[in-house]
Amino acid sequence: MTELAATGLDTTGSAASPAPEPSASEPASPSLPAQRILAGQRALVTGANSGIGRAVAIALGQAGADVVVNYVDGVEAADAVVDEIRRFGVDSIAYQADVSSEEQVGAMFERMVQQFGTIDILVNNAGLQRDAAFHEMTLAQWNTVLQVNLTGQFLCARAAIREFLRRGVVPSVSCAAGKIICMSSVHQQIPWAGRANYAASKGGIKLLMESLAQEVAPRRIRVNAIAPGAIRTPINMAAWETQEAYDKLMKLIPYDRIGEPEDIARAAVWLASDHSDYVVGTTLFVDGGMTLYPGFATGG
Ligand code: BGC
Repeated sequence: MTELAATGLDTTGSAASPAPEPSASEPASPSLPAQRILAGQRALVTGANSGIGRAVAIALGQAGADVVVNYVDGVEAADAVVDEIRRFGVDSIAYQADVSSEEQVGAMFERMVQQFGTIDILVNNAGLQRDAAFHEMTLAQWNTVLQVNLTGQFLCARAAIREFLRRGVVPSVSCAAGKIICMSSVHQQIPWAGRANYAASKGGIKLLMESLAQEVAPRRIRVNAIAPGAIRTPINMAAWETQEAYDKLMKLIPYDRIGEPEDIARAAVWLASDHSDYVVGTTLFVDGGMTLYPGFATGG
């Protein structure tokens, strides 16, 4: 069973440990200069104290946004992310809330509006895995994954949409009344044995995102998703921590390197910015080609 969060959130109570650095011999994710394309905007990232959520929160801050760093366990890690974000001269606070709790999500948005006045960008990132063979999967494993990964995205998106609708477009801030980015996975498309709960939650995110995007686009609200492939985070450590595991993983990735959280963060900054203003209801796959049926490169 994978205990750690897919995208930052760990509901088990143990703080997620940071992923080791890539080795010098591996091809690297590029390091690019940041532009302040989100200056004056206010963002909330769920599950932002580790993994992909952490990198996204930092990148949004670097791009000029004030950022709420949501977490459920691991306050020290959340505070460290806040400190890093503040170094960019923007405001940031950590906020503990379980995204699957309607009450806690409501309180989190109230606090955000109190602190920053409103919300412009929601990154629905918190997620986790509870892997099990289907015939052994408990209802608790099923429910935990669906509640955090899918219901959590519903609750946070609903709260954000309410605020976007209340406030409307402020042209000096953004051409849109608000942006939501749903963190999905290649497993919204690729079936995954032993993880039926996780794949079902990601498939659910796909049509939640698309239906919501269609519904609120006329109100100038943009809803999109990112589908990461294998990204070097605590959730899939078993798939990359040994050379043997890494080599096996590479058979699934045409681009021949693992993804880094920053690969996802750069996509999130773009999707949150007016640079992607005409992008509505799209899933951006950031997966090194994992969804290209790599087995067919030599077979078929
Ligand atoms: C999962 C990871 C996995 C990756 C590619 C992600 O959504 O959380 O555990 O490595 O998909 O299979």
